[in-house]
Amino acid sequence: MGVVGAGAMGAGIAEVAAAAGHRVVLLDVGAAALDRGRGIIDASLAGRVKRGILTGEQADDIRSRLTFTQDIGDLAACVLVVEAIIEQTAAKASLFARLESVLAPDAVIASNTSSLPISGLATSLQRPERFVGLHFFNPAPVMKLVEVVTIRDNPATLGPMLADLMRRWGKVPVLAADVPGFIVNRVARPFYAEGFLALGEGLDPAAIDHALKVAGGFRMGPLELADLIGHDINYAVAGSIHGAYAGKTRFRLQPAQQALVEAGRLGRKTGRGVFVAGEKPVPPLEPPAPAPGRLHFGAGLDALRDAATAAGLSVVTDPRLPAGSLEIDGIRVSLGDGRSAAGMGRADDRTRVMLDMARDFATAGTLVASLTNPDDTAARTAFAGFAQALGKGALLLPDRPGGLVLRTLVQLANAAADALADRVADANGIDAAMVHGANHPQGPLAWVAQVGTARVIQALTHLAAETGDDLYLPGAGLGI
Ligand SMILES: NC(=O)c1ccc[n+]([C@@H]2O[C@H](COP(=O)([O-])OP(=O)(O)OC[C@H]3O[C@@H](n4cnc5c(N)ncnc54)[C@H](O)[C@@H]3O)[C@@H](O)[C@H]2O)c1
Repeated sequence: MGVVGAGAMGAGIAEVAAAAGHRVVLLDVGAAALDRGRGIIDASLAGRVKRGILTGEQADDIRSRLTFTQDIGDLAACVLVVEAIIEQTAAKASLFARLESVLAPDAVIASNTSSLPISGLATSLQRPERFVGLHFFNPAPVMKLVEVVTIRDNPATLGPMLADLMRRWGKVPVLAADVPGFIVNRVARPFYAEGFLALGEGLDPAAIDHALKVAGGFRMGPLELADLIGHDINYAVAGSIHGAYAGKTRFRLQPAQQALVEAGRLGRKTGRGVFVAGEKPVPPLEPPAPAPGRLHFGAGLDALRDAATAAGLSVVTDPRLPAGSLEIDGIRVSLGDGRSAAGMGRADDRTRVMLDMARDFATAGTLVASLTNPDDTAARTAFAGFAQALGKGALLLPDRPGGLVLRTLVQLANAAADALADRVADANGIDAAMVHGANHPQGPLAWVAQVGTARVIQALTHLAAETGDDLYLPGAGLGI
């Protein structure tokens, strides 16, 4: 095995291959770069020993299988070389020419590029049939996903063979088409876009992240995640995908993020992005409110009804209430359907609270909602008392179509369905990619299956109608 580029990705990939038992030659252009790569691997292995994942002896074994070199001739015996150098077509093309001059004719050359088309890079090879994409995620020893990107020149056996190899490396390979952003960098866009859109509308950034973590089930909120990645990098990825899919509005750039980049507020690395590094954002949860008296539940909110019963509250199942609604001491709360709270209130004048989606209402630590009338303090107090009586926080957000959590989840589903329609990967592959490459708690298409396609389409249709923005129109992949 050969790896070229001993940076963040190359060092990680070399470690993974050596841990899988291969002898690995790691090539870079200077002693300093090689030292940096060695340092990255040493730190990663030391961390794994400390956490009890590896013994010291196993770490030494892995290290003993690694060779560091500046001489491309040392790669001559490799049957697979993964390229992880700077993201520049010319630099990569000249490396591939030098690699082809030393490698055996049947050795496979793979690029870890995030944004350059594999078929475009392949044109610089004498033997394009041996060239593929193997897109690892950062940090490579931790993140399980590898997008395996084959092109028309490849023999049909090459993709499955590399997928098999990646499984033996302990990875989750997903075969992906050679499209900009492959799967993850394309399908994940709405997660950031919706966060920045809400930020641009003036929603509290701590509230945005809190809602998506605690009700949406995501490990990190979109704003803190973009702070971690760096807004320059995240915005550049968004820009390259937007450019590559000109006309596809699902990939639109967000002015709120552009403003951060222009202000040099790039995230943790500059000490400040959306948040000040090191400061813990505090979401504006509602203050303690009295527990509700009688609760009437319509159909379809079973998890909340069961939680209320378990909390010892007075619960009545009331078939006269519309499905997806409940009444807290006569104050109607309706589960969001893509409209704003005001829009729902216009259709049903008893609705005073729009409940935003939770991935799982039973385990969600906070209930998120909006009021049809922001000055309705009785509704605010009733909702807060209800959530708190269930042991949950209550978060009231400014009213907007689709709320925040539902809107983000349906747009992720929409992007996944687009990718499915464009044959970027199959449904299982798209879901696996989002779980193992972006740490999402569930695949976007599995979520659609959970809540029902009709409901997702309805929410998107409402969103498109109320915002007047075709960004939200349901895509063909949703089966319409
Ligand atoms: N960083 C990420 O999150 C990430 C994730 C997936 C894929 N990628 C892709 O992986 C590749 C590398 O990214 P990175 O973040 O590891 O970069 P990096 O800057 O950390 O490392 C690049 C390394 O390549 C070396 N290099 C440059 N030109 C070279 C050449 N001609 N020959 C040999 N070595 C050379 C540099 O000295 C450096 O050590 C890029 O194509 C990038 O798009 C990055």
